Amino acid sequence: MKSAEDMQQVAPATATAAPASSGGATHRTGKTEKTEGDNLPWVEKYRPSALDELISQQDIIHTISRLIDSNALPHLLFYGPPGTGKTSTILALARRLNGPNYRQMVLELNASDDRGIDVVREQIKDFASSRKLFSRGLKLVILDEADAMTRVAQFALRRVIEKYTKSTRFCLLCNHVNKIIPALQSRCTRFRFGPLEQDQMLNRVQHVIQQEKCNVTPEGLSAIMRLAGGDMRRSLNVLQACHMAYDEINEAAVYACTGNPLPSDLRLMLNWLNNAPLQSAYEQILALQQAKGLSLLDMLTYLHELVLQISYPPPVMNFLLAEMAALEVRLAHGTNERIQLASLVGVFKQACAMTEQFQNEKDKRMAMSAK
Ligand SMILES: Nc1ncnc2c1ncn2[C@@H]1O[C@H](COP(=O)(O)OP(=O)(O)OP(=O)(O)O)[C@@H](O)[C@H]1O
Ligand SMILES: [Mg+2]
Repeated sequence: MKSAEDMQQVAPATATAAPASSGGATHRTGKTEKTEGDNLPWVEKYRPSALDELISQQDIIHTISRLIDSNALPHLLFYGPPGTGKTSTILALARRLNGPNYRQMVLELNASDDRGIDVVREQIKDFASSRKLFSRGLKLVILDEADAMTRVAQFALRRVIEKYTKSTRFCLLCNHVNKIIPALQSRCTRFRFGPLEQDQMLNRVQHVIQQEKCNVTPEGLSAIMRLAGGDMRRSLNVLQACHMAYDEINEAAVYACTGNPLPSDLRLMLNWLNNAPLQSAYEQILALQQAKGLSLLDMLTYLHELVLQISYPPPVMNFLLAEMAALEVRLAHGTNERIQLASLVGVFKQACAMTEQFQNEKDKRMAMSAK
């Protein structure tokens, strides 16, 4: 479902970004032999099918296993960032409850299905109230991406949940728990799926690399891990897209494939921002941005991590971060990138002036106290 869409989102970036910025990355030339699983996105091919195959979320898996074993499964609410195993967990749980033919005991609705008030009233009610011949297990209604449901539909769900608790469990999955009305939250047991642990993700990615015989350099692998940021789906999608596009997956290939700015380019940019005069800093960054086809929003996202590593005086750091955050908001509203880039350069020039002033005042104070 969602993962296939994500895969498609990665693929065009490969096609467009790579030629412009392939410094050090060689495109895939030879054809590889196709095997059966080649048609599946790797996120689906390597989706854990049993609860104990899931990595990182051990406390949650343990609790859920115990609830199933003691026949006390409550309604569930899984929330947390993307690619952390919410859908995988619920599907594995459904399989554990009802065996390989679990599909007939599950009603799965996600954001692409209509889940307005009518569906809640009719489809969910019909499924929850119907009896399944030859199956005695619990029925599951999985509402994936529940944060996209209208409030009216969520209110309608309250009553349905209570009415059919005897035979049915409701599982709500979402990224933003604050978009689920409190009345629904209180009817479910909440589990937060945090970003996955790096070392466990690394093992899993290495397993896929071995299975798919990818040619990945150590720098390429750490770039994939860095960009994934605890999102397993992202790491597998980037790996597959790079494998399709390049013979060797090195750092440059990973950044080119995802359209993200290289760390070396960012350091160069930061150097211009801090040291070059306004006009030349603006022109050089603009030239780099155009040559590599980078988006200012991506540049800003990674730039702020570098800024945090520099020891600016505290008031200057506060000023820079606040201004960069404001700039991010403006960019998210679709403002003109060139004007915002000029504004970014201006902000850094102002920060330089503030640093200088801060330093002068500090020197003065030191001189006074020495007298
Ligand atoms: N804990 C995990 N262990 C192993 N693989 C995982 C885990 N979490 C995610 N994955 C991998 O990432 C893919 C996407 O995971 P999943 O669909 O479960 O994410 P999600 O939390 O439902 O994300 P979203 O919030 O975007 O719906 C899976 O197919 C699987 O390959
Ligand atoms: Mg999901």
